[in-house]
Amino acid sequence: MISQEEIRQKLAKVIYPSFNKSIVSFEFVKSITTEEESITIHLTIPSASPQVAHQLKEEITRRLSPKGEYTITVEISQPTLPQETSSQGKNLLPAIQNFVMVSSGKGGVGKSTTTVNLAIALAQQGKRVGLLDVDIYGPNIPRMMGIEDQQPLFFGKTIKPILAHQIKVMSIGSLVERGASLIWKGAMVTQAIEQMIEDIEWGELDVLLFDMPPGTGDAQLALAQSLPVTAGVCVTTPQKVALDDTIRSMDMFTQLHIPIAGIVENMSGFICPESGKAYDIFGKGTTQPLADAYATQVLGEVPIEPAIREGGDSGLPITILAPNCETSQRYHAMATALWSSMQKVNESGGVSNEAVQPTIF
Ligand SMILES: Nc1ncnc2c1ncn2[C@@H]1O[C@H](COP(=O)(O)OP(=O)(O)OP(=O)(O)O)[C@@H](O)[C@H]1O
Ligand SMILES: [Mg+2]
Repeated sequence: MISQEEIRQKLAKVIYPSFNKSIVSFEFVKSITTEEESITIHLTIPSASPQVAHQLKEEITRRLSPKGEYTITVEISQPTLPQETSSQGKNLLPAIQNFVMVSSGKGGVGKSTTTVNLAIALAQQGKRVGLLDVDIYGPNIPRMMGIEDQQPLFFGKTIKPILAHQIKVMSIGSLVERGASLIWKGAMVTQAIEQMIEDIEWGELDVLLFDMPPGTGDAQLALAQSLPVTAGVCVTTPQKVALDDTIRSMDMFTQLHIPIAGIVENMSGFICPESGKAYDIFGKGTTQPLADAYATQVLGEVPIEPAIREGGDSGLPITILAPNCETSQRYHAMATALWSSMQKVNESGGVSNEAVQPTIF
């Protein structure tokens, strides 16, 4: 009988699809059990794609039992996406031309910072922009946009967004009682999002950006079912450990039929405020292979820069505070790339969310 070590060596040659790293190096192999002529391998992978699982099963079987000497069982644990709950193919906001969903698999990577600065850059480029904070569990947009103390105005059932830095801003989280949001269940999230989308008086906009909560959950699904999302932007950091989360996020866009406009590599190197010198802290440039694997682009790289955090804390984002600095120019280049990616989608017939029916694995 083949030994555990020999099996592990053979598995070390199985490359995870679209990456040049093996399932052993990624630490996806959770257990190997052997019994007489049968081998059972258990894997946990970050992708929800059935094709990836199928490809891995075939490759593992081929490596371990090329001539059918053993009975191979490959058990694969994959993430699940939330179950579809309501009707599809909706556009609750026909007066808005484009919708951008900014997501990340992991928390704290800079989604809100990216959303705010992209929104401001788009507005500075002459677009009519709205910004909706969908992060019910930790709304940060009001602070970042400097409107923490302002309450939205209610006209009967309708809510008027607050204007900040030429952008119409609304935060779902700030409309609900803070404590209540922590115990929200999936169906409530879905309902609240649909209802609030309809109740906010946006008027005509060229683009509405959504700052999402981290992960791949109900909020993302609710939006994709309510609106034809034109662009998905994935925010990541260059550490290798962020890879699994980013893959999950990209898979989510694919499953929800959201065109991926690109990936933003945030916290990519550090710029010393005194010397202006650049240092690699978490590394940089690790995002390109991922963009290639999903046939998309790296929208841009943003370094760790104290002015970015200070801008977020003070309500004056860097694109407002220092519109001509290198980082603000990068946000502008990203906004331009995002806009042209959305134009391409619209020119090729736009997005239909009729088929948003994530499969349960
Ligand atoms: N490039 C950067 N340089 C310096 N600080 C940054 C940078 N990007 C983000 N930050 C800071 O890191 C913190 C987390 O960023 P942010 O709130 O944008 O992340 P997030 O992904 O939206 O987090 P969450 O998942 O909690 O919503 C904030 O204090 C922000 O100001
Ligand atoms: Mg956030």
